[in-house]
Parts: sequence; structure tokens; C-alpha cells
Amino acid sequence: MKSSKLAMAAIVLWVATVAAFGWFFVRGNTAAGTDDRTAIVLAPQERDLILLEMRGLLIATHDILDGINQNNMQQVAQAARTVGMNSAADVNPVLMSKLPLPFKAQGMGVHHSMDDLAIAAESGQTAPELLKMLTGTLSSCVACHSAWQLKVADSSK
Ligand code: HEC
Repeated sequence: MKSSKLAMAAIVLWVATVAAFGWFFVRGNTAAGTDDRTAIVLAPQERDLILLEMRGLLIATHDILDGINQNNMQQVAQAARTVGMNSAADVNPVLMSKLPLPFKAQGMGVHHSMDDLAIAAESGQTAPELLKMLTGTLSSCVACHSAWQLKVADSSK
């Protein structure tokens, strides 16, 4: 029957689309890096957006350390919250599909642990305890930076 063939074709197409999306969601859009890391290939404004987020993480790290140093736990909580899960909520799906799964997982892990740090600062944890948490978070920054590089897609190709 013609219609069942058409239905079959539609199903095959649907499966292929879902599989392709899944493949990208896991692998992202990557290429060999210029050093021994893997490059994630992005449009210029997507790279700018991620680097802006990165500078935000560095500012927050500074403000958290400054807060701990001055025993100002409100500052610690506030700084950590600016880079918590809320800050990652509005990332667009096209960009998300270009980021490999381990990259997304590590990025989300950092946002989560910043929220945990904010809660710890508000609930009276001691400075050494907060420093220990921040050190753990910084290990994720280090691990991610040693694995990935960001590259702008070559539009001349
Ligand atoms: C999920 C992976 C990942 C995590 C986690 C991560 N970074 Fe990054 N960061 C990157 C990548 C990739 C680059 C670009 C590196 C390159 O292209 O050489 C970058 C770049 C940066 C830059 C340079 C920004 C610029 O304008 O050039 C800073 C600063 C930075 N990260 C800070 C941090 C800090 C602080 C943390 C942790 C609190 C952190 N990052 C966590 C992946 C990550």
C-alpha cells in the first residue's frame, strides 16, 4: 500500500532526525585544536558569549575570595549566585547542540556548585569550609580548560 510506504518513510525520516540531533547533542561541533586540546567550533558571537560567561566566572571567583577574606558572607553568597544555575538558564538550543556533552556537564556542574557555595555561605559555614568548596569548583575550571579550546568557524569555506 502506498500510504503505508509513506508512513514508513516518515518514520525513518523522523528516526534519522532524532538520531542526528542526539549525535550532535552528545558530540557537539568539534575539530582538532591548535594544541593538544579539542576545539569546539562556534560562530563568533557564540564564542564571545561563552568567553563573557567565563570572565563572569573569574569576577565571581575574585568576589567570593574577597568576601571570605573580609568575613563578608553576604558578598560570598551574592557573588556565587550570579554564576549559579540561574545564569545558565537562557542558553539557546543551537549553541547547546554545538557543545559536546562532557563540556555541558562540566559547565552545569560549576553552576550547581556555585549555588551550593551560596547556600553554604548563607548557612554559616566557616571560611576554611567555603575555601574547600571553592577549590573543588576551581578543579572543574582547570579540568575543562585543559581539555577544550574555542574556535571560530571558518566562514570562507
Ligand atoms: C565547561 C568547560 C569550562 C569550565 C567549567 C570553565 N571554563 Fe573557562 N573557558 C573554557 C574554554 C573552552 C575557554 C576558551 C579557552 C581557549 O579557547 O583557549 C575558557 C576561557 C576562560 C577565560 C578567558 C576569557 C576570555 O575572555 O578570553 C577565563 C577568564 C575563564 N575561562 C575562567 C574560568 C573560571 C574562573 C572557571 C571556573 C569557575 C571556568 N572558566 C570554568 C571552558 C570552561
